[in-house]
Amino acid sequence: MKPRDRLRIAMQKSGRLTEPALELLNRCGLTFRQSRDKLFCFGEGEPVDLLLVRDDDIPGLIAQGVCDLGIVGRNVLNEYRLTGGLAGPALAEWRPLGFGRCRLSVAVPQELDYRDASQLQGQRIATSYPGLLGEWLRERGVDASVVTLAGSVEIAPRLGTADAICDLVQSGGTLVANQLREADVLLESEAVLAGPQALPSDERGDMIELLLKRLDGVIQVRE
Ligand code: PRP
Ligand code: ZN
Ligand code: MG
Repeated sequence: MKPRDRLRIAMQKSGRLTEPALELLNRCGLTFRQSRDKLFCFGEGEPVDLLLVRDDDIPGLIAQGVCDLGIVGRNVLNEYRLTGGLAGPALAEWRPLGFGRCRLSVAVPQELDYRDASQLQGQRIATSYPGLLGEWLRERGVDASVVTLAGSVEIAPRLGTADAICDLVQSGGTLVANQLREADVLLESEAVLAGPQALPSDERGDMIELLLKRLDGVIQVRE
C-alpha cells in the first residue's frame, strides 16, 4: 500500500456514534470540509481526513491500512479481534472516548427466571456477535447453539428461531418492546479510538501522537 501523507480516520457514516464523534474531533481542533452524508470529509486545517463507513467495517479498514485510526464501539473492535482479524495485524484500543455507552448482554423472554449462564445449555441464542458470545459461553462451559443474524436480533425469540438473544442494550427500550429482559452482561461498551498496535514510524505516527495528546486534554476537561 502506498504511504499517505495525510492521516485518515474511519468513523460511522450514520448512527449513534456519528454526531458525538464529529463533535469530539472538532474539540480536538479538527474541522472538515464536506457534508457528513458524503463518504469522505477533507480536513481543513490539519492533514487529517475522515472516511464515513459502516461501523462494522472500521476494524478491517484499519487492519488493511486503508485508515490509520477509527472511532468505533468496543463491541465491534473486540468482535473483530475474535473473528475477523485473525490474519491481519493486531488492533489496539488506544483510548476510551466516553460516549456511546451501552452493554452487550444476553436477554431472555420476560417470563423466564434466569439465574446463571448454565441455563443457556442446549439453547439457541441469536446474536450479531458470535465471537464475543462464543467466548463467553466457552469460558462458562456452556454448550449452546449460536445463531448469527446481521440485525433485528431481538425479534428472533418471537419468531421461534431462538430461545434467547445477545445484543447491545442502551436504554433497554428495544428489549421491552420485544418482551425480553436483560439477563447477563458480557461487555461494557463505549466508543473507542482504535488503531494498529504499533504506530507508523513516519509523520503519521507523529500526527497520531499529537491527536492523542489533544484527545487526552479534551477528555480530561469533560470528566
Ligand atoms: C441497537 C442494538 C439494539 C438497540 C439497543 O440497534 O442492536 O437493537 O440499539 O438500544 P436500546 O436499548 O436503547 O433500545 P440499532 O437500532 O442501533 O441498529 P442495528 O441493530 O441495526 O445496528
Ligand atoms: Zn452496526
Ligand atoms: Mg438493533
